[in-house]
Amino acid sequence: MTGSLRQMSWLLVALCAATSLTGTANGAATSSSNCSTPTHFFTQLIEHENSSSKATFQQQYQIVADHFKPGGPILYYQQAETSLFACMEWTILPEWAAELGALIITLEHRFFGLSYPSNASDPIEKYQSLTLENVMLDAVNFISHVKDTTSGAKESKVLVMGGSYGGFLTTVLKMNHPEVFYGALPFAAPLRSIGANYQNPQRYNWFKWLNQVYWDLSASAAGKMKHAFEVLGQRFHAATDTKSIAKDFGLCSVPNTTAELQEVMGVINTVQYQIPQLGFINPIGNPTGSSVEKLVNQTLLLDDPVKIINASLNMWYPSSLYPCVPWGNDESVNPTLQLDSFNYLLCKYFPLSVNEVPNGTLFVPTSVQTESDPHTCMTKYNVTPSTQDHVETQYHITRDELVNAKRILFAYNEFDPTTAVGIDPLPLTQDRNASRYMFTTLSSHGEESIASYPGDRPSVVHARNLQLQTFKEWLGMY
Ligand SMILES: *[C@@H]1O[C@H](CO)[C@@H](O)[C@H](O)[C@H]1NC(C)=O
Ligand SMILES: *[C@@H]1O[C@H](CO)[C@@H](O)[C@H](O)[C@H]1NC(C)=O
Ligand SMILES: *[C@@H]1O[C@H](CO)[C@@H](O)[C@H](O)[C@H]1NC(C)=O
Ligand SMILES: *[C@@H]1O[C@H](CO)[C@@H](O)[C@H](O)[C@H]1NC(C)=O
Ligand SMILES: *[C@@H]1O[C@H](CO)[C@@H](O)[C@H](O)[C@H]1NC(C)=O
Ligand SMILES: *[C@@H]1O[C@H](CO)[C@@H](O)[C@H](O)[C@H]1NC(C)=O
Ligand SMILES: *[C@@H]1O[C@H](CO)[C@@H](O)[C@H](O)[C@H]1NC(C)=O
Ligand SMILES: *[C@@H]1O[C@H](CO)[C@@H](O)[C@H](O)[C@H]1NC(C)=O
Repeated sequence: MTGSLRQMSWLLVALCAATSLTGTANGAATSSSNCSTPTHFFTQLIEHENSSSKATFQQQYQIVADHFKPGGPILYYQQAETSLFACMEWTILPEWAAELGALIITLEHRFFGLSYPSNASDPIEKYQSLTLENVMLDAVNFISHVKDTTSGAKESKVLVMGGSYGGFLTTVLKMNHPEVFYGALPFAAPLRSIGANYQNPQRYNWFKWLNQVYWDLSASAAGKMKHAFEVLGQRFHAATDTKSIAKDFGLCSVPNTTAELQEVMGVINTVQYQIPQLGFINPIGNPTGSSVEKLVNQTLLLDDPVKIINASLNMWYPSSLYPCVPWGNDESVNPTLQLDSFNYLLCKYFPLSVNEVPNGTLFVPTSVQTESDPHTCMTKYNVTPSTQDHVETQYHITRDELVNAKRILFAYNEFDPTTAVGIDPLPLTQDRNASRYMFTTLSSHGEESIASYPGDRPSVVHARNLQLQTFKEWLGMY
């Protein structure tokens, strides 16, 4: 076991990837945002909870005030784990703001992009202030500053929103600071399957869900994939001719060790979920036009097991953009993700576990510990990853607390395996302020909330209307 951390790659912020440059890996960011409404910097405390520490850093934010009417609500978008700042004018939020008379504000996540509190070279020292408490208090402090400095916003109600890891943050912000956040819209929020694999009963849910997605779309295609993965598993297990494996699948380099073969299998598995998960219909979220329906259609026409696996790799890594399939520590696997900081927080407070494949799916079973492996977290960062129980109780996201919380609208999607590590549907009630679970079909990871493009699927448009109507009701604006 190499114990290397494998990151999650579901990134909503990829929606803005077309508009800015990537920061460098060590956080000495070189990008400047290219939003049409300019961003600014806010002086933020590095340690919110240590009253004797007055050190500060500069945190990037954006305010879009075009539609704000005094007393109107504040829509706070929580930025997440990439070096790319998500420009609010690219999202649905200006449309909602026009209807609500709302102020749109957003804050970059500390340790990502241009918002970097430490230049220390030792990772333990560098990331000392990357705690969930500090991340939450950044938002709380920023919002209080905006309310104090924006005329007519003093009493404004705040609705917080964000997707994926940002959806987790959205949920914990609402649950831990209900006095600041009146309502919340977490989309595709992973809240379960947290903790090291050996003690996490939900660790197989991700691939169980994915298995179901493929069988539901076409049992015939899924059957072919199952056979292809059986052949692939045997070939990787035998490991007799890894050069031919590299050639057959167009890999950038030949895997030579068992651990490297596992990494290649990890990339193949990741592609199987990224295609359904990130099959956005819009060209910015999904520039290569990946689509699970398309993949299923291609699979139906194929019989050769190598070509069946290759079809998925070619869809996610088209030769027009990728001369070969990157794997291992190749930066091009995901150039927009700021891996260092994300790996740290995966160990520290968000140890999501989604890479294990149980017996009986169409994929190759694997029990390899990948992301936030306890040994690696300890060696690299001197951190013991949390358990599900700890995160649930510490941050008030137990089932009971979520059911009883007011005004959270959880949105999940049919093709997105994040749904399997989200929360289960909430009970029905006639309380219009009760938190709700919204399941959208035929769309992907959070698409229904953040993007707004012509040609969106009807279910996406429907979901947006439902969200807006719900906000109006919460705010008494109907
Ligand atoms: C910003 O946008 C302008 C105009 O679209 C474009 O020319 C420029 O390359 C962009 N800069 C970055 C950093 O993306
Ligand atoms: C609080 O900050 C002070 C001043 O920087 C530092 O000396 C002290 O160690 C910090 N305390 C904790 C608990 O981190
Ligand atoms: C990190 O280094 C840059 C460049 O020298 C500097 O502008 C910035 O203030 C430093 N940040 C911190 C938190 O010390
Ligand atoms: C798989 O796709 C790659 C990239 O297009 C190609 O180089 C390779 O020959 C393909 N393999 C097979 C068996 O068709
Ligand atoms: C595997 O070995 C070959 C031949 O020595 C070498 O060219 C290749 O770079 C190695 N692969 C990796 C991932 O190191
Ligand atoms: C897949 O094939 C079906 C049946 O031929 C067709 O109706 C559908 O449009 C195809 N979907 C895609 C995304 O190509
Ligand atoms: C999967 O099957 C193998 C072989 O039968 C068995 O050793 C292993 O424990 C099973 N794993 C799970 C998670 O059931
Ligand atoms: C929701 O809660 C707010 C604040 O308690 C209340 O004013 C409003 O009437 C409630 N709305 C509905 C539809 O119950």
